Amino acid sequence: MRAARLIRETIELRDGRKVTLRPIRPTDAVLLVDLHQHLSADSQFYRFFGPKPDLSPAEAEYLANVDFTKRFAIVASVDEDGERLVAVGRFDIAEDEDEAEVAIVVRDDHQGVGLGRAVLERLLDVARGRGIRALVGEVLAENVRMLDLLRSSGLEVGQPDGSVVRVAVPVTDTPLIFRGLGIVARSTTAIADRAGRLRRRRA
Ligand SMILES: CC(C)(COP(=O)(O)OP(=O)(O)OC[C@H]1O[C@@H](n2cnc3c(N)ncnc32)[C@H](O)[C@@H]1OP(=O)(O)O)[C@@H](O)C(=O)NCCC(=O)NCCS
Repeated sequence: MRAARLIRETIELRDGRKVTLRPIRPTDAVLLVDLHQHLSADSQFYRFFGPKPDLSPAEAEYLANVDFTKRFAIVASVDEDGERLVAVGRFDIAEDEDEAEVAIVVRDDHQGVGLGRAVLERLLDVARGRGIRALVGEVLAENVRMLDLLRSSGLEVGQPDGSVVRVAVPVTDTPLIFRGLGIVARSTTAIADRAGRLRRRRA
């Protein structure tokens, strides 16, 4: 899949601000570091499942370089005396090829105005085109924003049994807006134990 054939659009958020959604590119590495530095400690923690004050240049390089086949990512950018990133959404296709691990992060000063939902919808659209059956991921049970984002898209989230909810968002043939989505939420002891350890470390 060529990046040039993927999404590029400017959208208006609920508060009137505009952002441009586009495929990630290798030169975004430096902008990913900047985005990470502008995330609150909580957002860093929820995205990386543990304290993560810094994103190293090597990590940023890895995240900015995707092949748009096995690994896909879009960013939301704004002009703040130069280009800055305010959101990233990505998925990595799993070995069995019909599931992809999803992650989304929105800069705190752009949260709560529809950007996370816009990113999720576009990830689902791309996943649909790739024949992916489900976007899957782990979400900390205390991460009400992410769980609400999924739930308010018509998903039903089961009661977590531990610190982490394993979520699977089915990718169906019909666009998100027209369908009632189902969500499978299950917890595994191993995942919960890991998150519990992380939380205790944070405390
Ligand atoms: C989770 C996250 C991606 C959501 O992005 P966002 O841009 O804030 O979400 P949106 O504005 O699109 O809101 C979508 C839904 O989330 C929920 N939501 C948003 N802000 C919320 C808040 N402050 N409290 C509770 N729910 C909230 C609502 O259900 C909302 O639905 P609505 O638009 O109908 O009101 C964002 O909060 C984030 O980056 N968090 C840190 C990183 C993270 O947790 N990533 C997920 C794990 S990979």
